[in-house]
Amino acid sequence: MIYDLIILGGGPAGYLAAERAGKAGLKVLVIEKDNMGGVCLNEGCIPTKTLLYSAKIADSAAHGEKYGVKANVLLDHAVVMKRKNKVVKKLTGGVRASMKALGVEIIKAFGIIKGQSADGYTVDANDTEYIAKRLLIATGSSPVVPPIPGVDTGLKSGAVLTSTEALALTEVPKSFVVIGGGVIGLEMAGYFNSAGATVTVIEMLDKIGGSIDDDIAKKLQSNLEKKGISFKLGCKVTKIDNGKVFFEANGEIDSVDGDKVLLSIGRRANTAGIGLENIGVVTEHGAIPTDEYQKTNVPEVYAAGDVDGQSMLAHTAYREAEVAVNNMLGEHDSMRYTAVPAVIYTNPEVAGVGMTEAMAKEKGMDVTVKTVNMNYSGRYMAENEGGDGVIKIVVDNQSNKLIGVHMIANYASEIIYGAGLMVEREMTVNEIKKIIFPHPTVGEIIREAIFQL
Ligand code: NAI
Repeated sequence: MIYDLIILGGGPAGYLAAERAGKAGLKVLVIEKDNMGGVCLNEGCIPTKTLLYSAKIADSAAHGEKYGVKANVLLDHAVVMKRKNKVVKKLTGGVRASMKALGVEIIKAFGIIKGQSADGYTVDANDTEYIAKRLLIATGSSPVVPPIPGVDTGLKSGAVLTSTEALALTEVPKSFVVIGGGVIGLEMAGYFNSAGATVTVIEMLDKIGGSIDDDIAKKLQSNLEKKGISFKLGCKVTKIDNGKVFFEANGEIDSVDGDKVLLSIGRRANTAGIGLENIGVVTEHGAIPTDEYQKTNVPEVYAAGDVDGQSMLAHTAYREAEVAVNNMLGEHDSMRYTAVPAVIYTNPEVAGVGMTEAMAKEKGMDVTVKTVNMNYSGRYMAENEGGDGVIKIVVDNQSNKLIGVHMIANYASEIIYGAGLMVEREMTVNEIKKIIFPHPTVGEIIREAIFQL
């Protein structure tokens, strides 16, 4: 049988493409080496959010006296993990059921592209060859393991972990050292701190949170420090010796001890060993470059999700997968990265969309930046005793359009898509002024900031 589409990888890009293509009547085969759902459902977005919700409840209960509530708090890690596993099982089961309902076939195997014939592309899975008119490569990404002395030994002994192993820990380590203060590092630091570990984050740059707004990064750091997390910024890790992490700062070597050490210094596209060279798909810095239609350099071969190296986020993967399938179906659709929201699910949450002040200034744009205290939102005040959250909006002075919204405050993760809509639709300040926001909500802060310009 010749399939219309073979998808390599059953993560967010792969399963969403399979759903859309299956619904459109294409005969689809998904080849996935592990469980359906990819990193996001099995060992990424969803498991971490389950853990962080427990952490948030524990934090709120531990500091309940500010709100007139007193409690003795114990975070039971074993119960948290059990619940996490239940949530993951339910969601991955849901993906499989949805595939089945749409007639999408799934094979558990490591797929390898073998070549091209008049019938299409041949892919090997468990020593059987499958042929399809089109391919979608959605093989995702894996944690970067740096060539730091002692890392390999640490990984073998279990003292050094990637996020995958950290999410499977059965006990809370007494001390937890995080290498890399990006999204994964901060979320994991947040959970293990709430769960009772002594947490230290070592970051090479002089700020945490990667490309998030500089002021917001500082605020996040001070909030996490108040919770007891230590930060070593501008520090380069030089060696790991069974949990002892050596690092260099200003020419001096220092060290910190960890029962467990997490490596979270970024992820790399999974392109090795999948046979890209057999059909001539090119890679750049290990990822597969695509055009705005998610097409690779080879006809009828598409790529979507982390493997294209653009924006390693599940929601970007969803949209890229949709763009790929729509183009396969002959519908005009193209990918834009102007308004991809980014969220860090710490407590407090950080979320942003569009340009930060630094990005706009680097581009030489003439912008107005307004920072507004979250306490202008009555609901924020009611729910965040002593909270110091802010929203920062960036407006292009030439067009009077909103081009960026960045905030630190709980609910930011749920509010940011509204801001994303404004940025994506290129709304002007005057247009946004006419939008009615529900009151009292934390999201009203966007309206407040727009009127304070
Ligand atoms: P990241 O790129 O967000 O952060 C890595 C950090 O490690 C950077 O701040 C970098 O400066 C630092 N670093 C690099 N080498 C270092 C070294 N040798 N020593 C100390 N620091 C070093 O990468 P991360 O956190 O591993 O996340 C990977 C991907 O997963 C990201 O693309 C992220 O967007 C995605 N992700 C998204 C989540 C979300 O949307 N909430 C949650 C988790 C992951």
